[in-house]
Order: sequence, then structure tokens, then C-alpha cells
Amino acid sequence: MAKRIGILTAGGDCPGLNSAIRGVAKATYHRMPGAEIYGIAEGFSGLITGEYKKMSPSDFSGILNVGGTILGSSRTPYKMMRVIEADSVDKVAKMKQNYEKMELDCLLCLGGNGTHKNAHLLAEEGLNVIGLPKTIDNDIWGTEFTFGFHTAVRTGSDILDKLHTTAASHGRTLVVEIMGNKAGWLTLYAAVAGGADVVLLPEIPFEIDSVVDALNRRVRAGKDFSIIAVAEGAISASESKMKRKDRLAARSAAGDRCVSDKLVRELTAKTELEIRSCVPGHILRGGSPSPYDRILATQFGVYAAQLIYDDVYGVAVGISSDRVRHSPLEIVAGKTKFVPKDNQLIDAARHMGLNFGD
Ligand code: F6P
Repeated sequence: MAKRIGILTAGGDCPGLNSAIRGVAKATYHRMPGAEIYGIAEGFSGLITGEYKKMSPSDFSGILNVGGTILGSSRTPYKMMRVIEADSVDKVAKMKQNYEKMELDCLLCLGGNGTHKNAHLLAEEGLNVIGLPKTIDNDIWGTEFTFGFHTAVRTGSDILDKLHTTAASHGRTLVVEIMGNKAGWLTLYAAVAGGADVVLLPEIPFEIDSVVDALNRRVRAGKDFSIIAVAEGAISASESKMKRKDRLAARSAAGDRCVSDKLVRELTAKTELEIRSCVPGHILRGGSPSPYDRILATQFGVYAAQLIYDDVYGVAVGISSDRVRHSPLEIVAGKTKFVPKDNQLIDAARHMGLNFGD
């Protein structure tokens, strides 16, 4: 019997989603002639509301290098999955009904941490599910790299390159706030590739005086400009001792909308420097995937098609030691892959004199 495959993309988009979708489709049509692929609109919300269409091979042409996702995406938080809202819709039951209605043999979920939690929930409900790890944050358990990450590193380092010339011309200190949710991977890689002077990661709570010392040392060495790359999830050492709620209250009482506001305020008070900030935000998620991400996403897609061929479900695809592999969803779901303190790149950066605020 020809297989019927559902595919959805959920959570924040990133470059490489279309390359992965195309990889799945091309390998499926090639390996399993007669197979049907159903594109589910806007992540899990399309599975809940039953918005899907049968795709044809031509839908997957010309998308290898296109950013975003042809299927659309949305966030359906795991914690809301079991909550029955005022409209009385049991979301999990609806998803199962639509899976049955499409007569699917399996469902591919392309997404980040939240998506893998939802995918695991559906697997526990008896659906045949496979997860494919995408995110600019690179924070998914069970894979060394996620697709989307390297393109975002390139974008981040481009931004740092551009900020360097203006910082140098004006003798300013520029704080660049980089996405990454609770993990510092994107900031670390972009900072090293873009030659930042200070790197602040969520995994290493910072002391503002350590940053002040680093900036003053540069001034004494005759360098009148500096670049600080800060992860959006970075926190100070004193904030690390607070509950999240108290931390947010303290930031808002000080008028800080984000960590870069806090840094500009505190560094301006403690130095003579002219300090400005830049928050590139969603620019980091945009654009055409890099060649590396096109290849990684294609490999993941092709590997997922092979898993379907072999009827292997309840797993997430990943790469480690240059081999594409799969791990059980129950191991991957619900965990965040943080930057370990003994990460070699952190070590290399420290050897070059980069300050981590500790
Ligand atoms: O997970 C990708 C990501 O871009 C994170 O880096 C960031 O914290 C978050 O999504 C932003 O989400 P949204 O686009 O929903 O504001």
C-alpha cells in the first residue's frame, strides 16, 4: 500500500525548512512511488483545524534556497495542548481525528523544542511521528546541529561586521542583542565569527564590573570602540539568584525592556563611554539558507523518508560526529541543549582575550 505522509512546520521559522521539506518529498517520491504527501498549514494549528492539502511534486520545486516555510508556521505551546478553551475544542482529539481523516501513515513535525514536545505527546497518543530539528537556537537535544543555525550565525556575524565599522568610526561601544531563547549557541558562534570583544551568554551569568574592566582595558590599550554580543537570555549573576518572576519585575522597575537596555543603562552609569544598542531580532531568522544548512536539511529530510520506508516512528532525526542518526522522541522532548561551560569554542575565545562577563 502506498504511504500517506503528513508534514508540518511549527514554532519560529528558520532558513532550511523548505530545503528539508523538499528533501523529504524528493526522497519519498523516488523511494516510494505512489506515496502521497499532505501539507498541513501553519503547524499544529492546521492539524487541529483540519487545514491541509494534498501536495504534488511540483509544490516542492524551486524551494531549496528559499527562506521561511511554504507550509506556514505557528506556535501551539505544549502547555496549552491539553487545555480545553472556551470553544470546547479538545485539541489533541482534533489532531487525532484529522490524522485519521487524512488516513495518514505518519506525521513529520519540523520544529524546535516545543514542536518535539508536541510530537512526543502525539506519539504517546499512538500516532506515528518523526521529528526533524530546526531552529536558529541550536538548542535541541540529540543533535549537534539544527538546520537554520549556521545561516543565522552568518547573519549574526554580518551584523557584527557592519557594526564594527560604525563603532570604530565613532569611537562607540555597541551592544548587540542576539536571539537564541535560553541558550547561547547563536551568540557564541556569531560573536567569534564577528570578532566581538565581550560575549554574554545565558549559561554564564555576568558581573557588570567584569564587563566594565574589559571595556576600560581596551581603552587603555588605545582602542576607543568595543562590540558586546549579548544573548537575549543572558542574565547577571545577581539575577541568576532570583526567581524568573522577580527578575522580570526588577527589570521592568528599572525600565529595561530587554537585556541590552540593562547593559546600556548600567555601563553608561559606570563608564565614560558612549554606549548604544542594536537588537536585530527576527532578521536573524530570515534569508536564504546557507549551503551548509541546505545540505543538513536535505540530509535530514532524506533520512526521515528512509525512516518512513522502514516504518520507524517515535523518533527525532539528528546529526552527531558527522553521521545523521535518530533518537527516541522521549529522550529528545522536553530537554534544552545548553552551551556547556567547557565548550571548546568558549575556551578558544577566552584564549584570545574575549570577556565573558565572569
Ligand atoms: O526559537 C527561535 C526564536 O527566534 C528564539 O531565538 C526567540 O527567542 C524566539 O524564537 C522568538 O519568538 P517569536 O518569533 O515568537 O517572538
